[in-house]
Amino acid sequence: MNKVRVAVLISGRGSNLAALIEAARAPDYPAEVVLVISDRADAGGLAIAREAGVPTAVVAYGGAGERDAFEAEIDRLLHEAGVGLICLAGFMRVLSARFVEHWHDRILNIHPSLLPDFPGLDTHARALAAKARVHGCTVHFVRPAVDSGPIILQGQVPVWQGDTPDTLAARVLEVEHQIYPLALRLVAGGFANVVGDAVEIDPGVPDYLTGPAECGHRH
Ligand code: GRF
Repeated sequence: MNKVRVAVLISGRGSNLAALIEAARAPDYPAEVVLVISDRADAGGLAIAREAGVPTAVVAYGGAGERDAFEAEIDRLLHEAGVGLICLAGFMRVLSARFVEHWHDRILNIHPSLLPDFPGLDTHARALAAKARVHGCTVHFVRPAVDSGPIILQGQVPVWQGDTPDTLAARVLEVEHQIYPLALRLVAGGFANVVGDAVEIDPGVPDYLTGPAECGHRH
């Protein structure tokens, strides 16, 4: 099988990275993680990658006015590694429109809310403040506007009385670890394609590939 070469961009603890690496161990998984790039040398996810034998790179952001150089270095590393898809997984830098357009439909992101609700930061606290009854996470293709772009998969969790941002975040994170590997499987396998502004999931996708029913990939 010709696997799609994937780079994962991180800034922190890397639990989604771990889920992607773990999923990609399956012989029939259509993608392999070939590179992890962090903008922070102290990101916990770097150790996860090293333990799994995945090459890592740290590209530090030089500060205001340095985004071109930052992105040029990331781009160089991606091309050098023959990357076909990029997964943002807790990567805390906003990528320029130029970078995003260069990698059009080849960058995925996971966001901890049911987009279009609660783009941006502090999603769990904001969902609680809004008295949302359900909350969740979204995997989407990246577009220049932050936390926008065609949605590939969403996973939903209930919000319980007495939840705090931390308890809610933990419930959502479990679902993140299910839907990100699944979304990458669908994209890398050619089952999820952007048509217009939306993602169409091939109705021919075998059920055994799509995991738990609550992931709700079917339209
Ligand atoms: C996740 O909640 C993800 O949705 C958000 O950043 C967090 C990253 O967590 N974009 P981790 O580094 O994958 O553990």
